This record gives sequence, C-alpha cells and structure tokens, in this order.
Amino acid sequence: MSDIKDKNLKAEGKKRIEWADNDMPVLSLIREKFKKEKPLKGLRLSACLHVTAETANLMRTLKAGGADVLLCASNPLSTQDDVAAALTEYYDVPTYAIKGEDRDTYYSHLKSAIEHKPSVTLDDGADLVSTIHSDYPEMIPNIIASMEETTTGVIRLRAMASDGALKFPVFAVNDALTKHLFDNRYGTGQSTVDGIIRATDILFAGKTVVTAGYGWCGRGFAMRAQGMGANVIVTEVDPVKAIEAAMDGFRVMPMIEAAKIGDIFCTLTGDINVIDRAHFELMKDGAMVANSGHFNVEINTEALEEMAVDVKKNIRNCVDQYIMKDGRVINLLAEGRLVNLAAAEGHPACVMDMSFAAQALTTEYAVKNKGKFMSKVYPVPAHIDDEVARLKLASMEIAIDTLTPEQEEYLRSWQIGT
Ligand code: ADE
Repeated sequence: MSDIKDKNLKAEGKKRIEWADNDMPVLSLIREKFKKEKPLKGLRLSACLHVTAETANLMRTLKAGGADVLLCASNPLSTQDDVAAALTEYYDVPTYAIKGEDRDTYYSHLKSAIEHKPSVTLDDGADLVSTIHSDYPEMIPNIIASMEETTTGVIRLRAMASDGALKFPVFAVNDALTKHLFDNRYGTGQSTVDGIIRATDILFAGKTVVTAGYGWCGRGFAMRAQGMGANVIVTEVDPVKAIEAAMDGFRVMPMIEAAKIGDIFCTLTGDINVIDRAHFELMKDGAMVANSGHFNVEINTEALEEMAVDVKKNIRNCVDQYIMKDGRVINLLAEGRLVNLAAAEGHPACVMDMSFAAQALTTEYAVKNKGKFMSKVYPVPAHIDDEVARLKLASMEIAIDTLTPEQEEYLRSWQIGT
C-alpha cells in the first residue's frame, strides 16, 4: 500500500534517484556493507522525512540492511512526486506523500507510518515521535529508538525530555558535526538561494537581503547571499551570534528596522512569528518574504491574510501576492513553508550524503545496542562522525596528515611549555 500522486511518474523519479546516488558515495558504501551484514534484519522501520531523491537513497540503504521500511512526508510541500512513485514502484518502499497534500492527508500519512508498527523511527521535525506519544501511546513499548534529522525536531524532543514526556531513546543526528556543519550551513545556504531564485527569478546582486537567525542555516544563507552580491542584514536574539554576524561583516539590527529596508526576507530561526504584522506594515512595495525554517510558523501568514485587501495566488509557481490597503505588494514565497524544498529540490546530494550516512550508521548503532539507552536525547557517538568524515574525505580524494608519535606524546604531556 502507498498513497502517492501518480505511479506513472516512476521512471522520471528513478532517474533522479540514480543521479543523486552518484553524489552520495558514503551512503553507497554503507549500503554495500548493509547488504552483506544485514544489521537491521527483521526490523520494521518508519521514516517521516522529506520525500526527495536523497531520502530515497537512504531508504534503499536501510532496506539493504534488512529493514521493512515505510516512508511518509515530513512536510506537505516538500515531496517530489516522481520520487515517491519510483520508491513504491521500483524500490518496494511503501510511501505516503503527495506534494501539496492538506493537513488531514498529512496526518493520515503519519498514521499509516505509525500503523506500520515500527520498532525504529526516523523523523525530520519530530512529528512522528510526538504523534506516537500523544495519540498512539500503546506503540511506545515497541520502539527501540528514533533518529532526529533537524534542529527544530531536536529542540522539540529536548522539550519533551525535560517535561518527562519522552518515553523512548532518541538520537540527535542533527547535532552530529558531519551533519549540521555541512547540511545546515552549505546545504541550506545554497538550496535557500536556489529556492528563492527558482520562485522569483530575481537578481541577488545589489539587493538588501534580511536573514532572520544566525544559527548554522542562517550563517549559510547569509554567506551565500553575500557571495552573490547582496547587502546582507542579520537579525538575531542571541547576543553572541549577533556579534559573530557583525564580525563576519553583516549589518545587524532588529527586524523592525530591517523591515523598512529589505528587498528579500528569509527566516531561518525555528521560532514563531519572526516576521509579524508590525513588520508587514513597514515593508517596501514588492518585498519578497520567504522561510527556510522547518515549520511554517516563522512568518505570520494569518496576519498577512488579514491585512491584505486582495491576494493573487500563484502569480508564479510558489509566489502569492498580497495587496495591502495602501497599494503595496508583498510577495509570499511557498506559502511560508520551507522555500528550499518547496520551490527547489532541497539540499544537494553531496551534503545529504553525510547527513544520511550519519542517519544509517546511528540507526545501526541504536539497534546493536538495543536496551542500553534510557528515554533521553542522545548525541551521535563521535566514532560515527569520524567514520563519516573519513569516508567523505576519501571520496573527495583529499588526504590529510596523521599525528607523529612525538606529536601524540606532546599532546598527552603538560610539562613542556615555552
Ligand atoms: N532536507 C533538506 N534537503 C533535503 C533533501 N534534499 N532531502 C531530504 N531532506 C532534506
């Protein structure tokens, strides 16, 4: 069983999955190892992830490891329908995902993933874990562990753990160095620019681009927008990150000031109503507003709807125009959902290779060490980060130095000074 848009898209999807696989050498190696060793044999696994070509290659890897895998969408707008078709038709992975699905369909797809009776879950945003805890508590005893892909999901899971609500172990894959230093920074940086450009076809050079948030995703987007010739403004609430942004060469100011001068706005904060009514009041005619954070809460789209006297939907693919009382036009991209996945194809395969290698190896580790963990949020073990990094370097044909015995000894000693 599956619920997808159209089976006939399968051939196109397969080509894209294979194309992505060419740039995922680490995951391919793990797939070969899993094929031989079958570390996930007999396990039922449900994944709630963005349904992309890269995710398809992770599903193939987990299946090669012997798991009975099911995939559902982690966002209503990020599904690549051709990939969903290929997964069900060629790769034997039941898939529940339709690009543009409504909220009820989204949750019915999550329900199908839960009814698969998984003993391992993979999440991107923690919807699967939170729905199991709130609506299907009888499933909890089956679950060995869950892996979490994204910052927002890790924040939610930590909140569950500190409330005493978390009832099985979870691994914060997002926090692995080989994940967030590359995926969040270079992946989000590039794919967010890509999404904004595909939606609008605007030139970044000379524009004032406002980046809300200077976490790893915000840093990546600000860096790439600057690289394309934009004047970048950063808004932050964290004083340390704000200094970092200033010393990285960006103007830093509150959103209420930035609102007046920005041409393009992008939220990457993980928090709610970062662009709100008061900001829309001040924006220039023609301002473009996008979000690249996980949930569609960062831009107060309800306020925008209320303020607008008219809305022109789909003026271009992924662009809705809101006409304000005074005649100004505000362009909302991808309905305020993550623009990099809704308007473009998400992060390139090259970085997802590391993120999904970490997912696969952490899943293997959690299963091998079943029963040893408490109901807490665990970091990915350092040896997994090291292995992913070593394999990625090898695939890039980059060699590095090794410590000499003398250097190792020096690092262990404290007596030698100047
Ligand atoms: N998150 C961001 N980009 C992605 C991609 N290409 N595939 C899966 N998840 C993603």
